[in-house]
Parts: sequence; C-alpha cells; structure tokens
Amino acid sequence: MDRTEKICDIIEGSSYVVFLGGAGVSTESGIPDFRSKNGLYHKKKKRFASYEPEYLLSSECLRKKPEVFFEYYRENLDARAVEPNDAHRALAAMEHAGRLAGIITQNIDGLHQKAGSRNVQEIHGTIWTNHCVSCGREYDSDFIFDSREEVPHCLDCGRTVRPDVTLYGELLPDEAYDRSIRMIQKADCLIIGGTSLEVGSAAQLAHMYHGRSFIIINKTKTKLEGKADIVVHDSIAKVLKSVTELMGIWQDDDT
Ligand code: APR
Ligand code: ZN
Repeated sequence: MDRTEKICDIIEGSSYVVFLGGAGVSTESGIPDFRSKNGLYHKKKKRFASYEPEYLLSSECLRKKPEVFFEYYRENLDARAVEPNDAHRALAAMEHAGRLAGIITQNIDGLHQKAGSRNVQEIHGTIWTNHCVSCGREYDSDFIFDSREEVPHCLDCGRTVRPDVTLYGELLPDEAYDRSIRMIQKADCLIIGGTSLEVGSAAQLAHMYHGRSFIIINKTKTKLEGKADIVVHDSIAKVLKSVTELMGIWQDDDT
C-alpha cells in the first residue's frame, strides 16, 4: 500500500480529523513562506536589511516605526488577489465530505475560507480585517493596502489603523486558540502540513495532541517527525489532491 493509500485509510478510519498548517500550504498559490531558502525571511530587500525579520512583523515595530512596518506589510503580505491551490481545495472537499472536522492555520491570507472551508481557526489572525488602535472602528483590507498615507489613520479619531494580525510580541487571539485546543484534544487523527513548527503556538498545539494517528506532510524535516505514523516530504498540494482523488471527493476547480 503506498503512502497516499495509507493516509486515505487512516482518515477513513478516523472520526475527528484535524489539520494544522502554515505558510507552506500557500506557497503553491505564489505566497512565499518564511523560513525556506526563498522564504520571506531570506529575501529581505536592502531597505529592510538592518531589521531582524521578526522585528518587521512585531508590535514594537508597529508602535515605534509604523512607516517601516506598513511598508514591509504592504509589500509582502497583500494576499487579496491570491487564489487557493489544490491543498486548500482538497481540505475544503474533505470538510464538505465530513472527513475533516476543521483547520487550525498560522496563515493570515484567508485562502482556506476562499476555497470553501468553514471551520478555520486563524491563530495568527488575518489580513482581511483591521481596526483603529484607539476607538476600535473596523476597516477592510483595502483601507490599509490601498491607503495613500504611509501610516493609515482612523477616519473617526485620527489614530493608527492596524491589521488584525497577531504580531510578534502579542498574545494569540483567545477564541481561535481555545477552539484549536479543544479540536486537538478531540482529534483521533492530526495532519500537520506546510509548517516548520518553528513558532511556539503551532508546536505547543502539536504537543497537546495524544490521539491515535499522526501524519506530517512537509517538504522539509520538522522536529516532530519521530512522533508521526506517516511522514511525507513532498508538496502538500500534490499529496492532499491524490488523497482526495482516492477518496473520490476531489472536485476540479472548474466544477
Ligand atoms: N508543500 C509542503 N511543504 C511546504 C511547501 C509545500 N508546497 N512549501 C513550503 N513547505 C514547508 C517548508 O519546507 C517549511 O518547513 O512549509 C514550511 C514553512 O515553514 P515556515 O516558513 O517557518 O512557515 P510557518 O511554519 O507557517 O511559520 C510560522 O512564523 O513568522 C511566523 O507568523 C509567522 O505564521 C508564521 C509562523
Ligand atoms: Zn479611531
């Protein structure tokens, strides 16, 4: 039995499957991840060269150097025109077919929802909503990405409008994280994909998992390989598409 058949078998034999993913799920949509060799953290432009990558996406940078923060943010995190890839589509098909209970994602691009997934816990927030740091008025993503002001200001009170993204130095959104913990504790099959597990939040959730089956689909090694039943070092889009084709639930994009 090949790996795809084994993964398919495990999912079919499970009652509560959870997917935990990261930036590697969106790379085949054209969004670079962070830590791969051509990831965001390695291809910083000259004008950002003097800053640590984590600083550029930190609450400190937003507070102390907002013009640097928003320039980096607009240049690297505008995923408004990006389309989901086969990985997003396969996970949505699995949820619609009742084979996936939900997704926990570190991604802020909203591509899982764009592909039709409904139970998506965004533990690092989202680029799609923004709010004023003072009066809390909400704004859409165009307000920040299309703003002609270096630092976008609230139309009501004039203070800074910031993205609903969890920045370095900030706590994770309570509700999404609490729901994620409950999902992990209920799961009897955890699939981890497209994440280096370098950031604490995802690694902590993975360590909370004690269910029966554990699958990792990631191009490069992660520190939890020893715990997994199946490890696939390959494209998550390719693997998840073949798994859902085998299940007979894959829907081509033009359906
Ligand atoms: N298929 C499978 N794996 C892939 C693919 C792909 N198409 N593309 C990339 N990968 C893998 C890489 O090998 C890497 O191990 O995805 C992983 C991406 O890891 P990171 O770049 O570290 O991204 P992520 O784990 O999501 O980072 C977590 O760090 O900077 C913060 O807040 C940011 O949410 C982000 C967090
Ligand atoms: Zn305001």
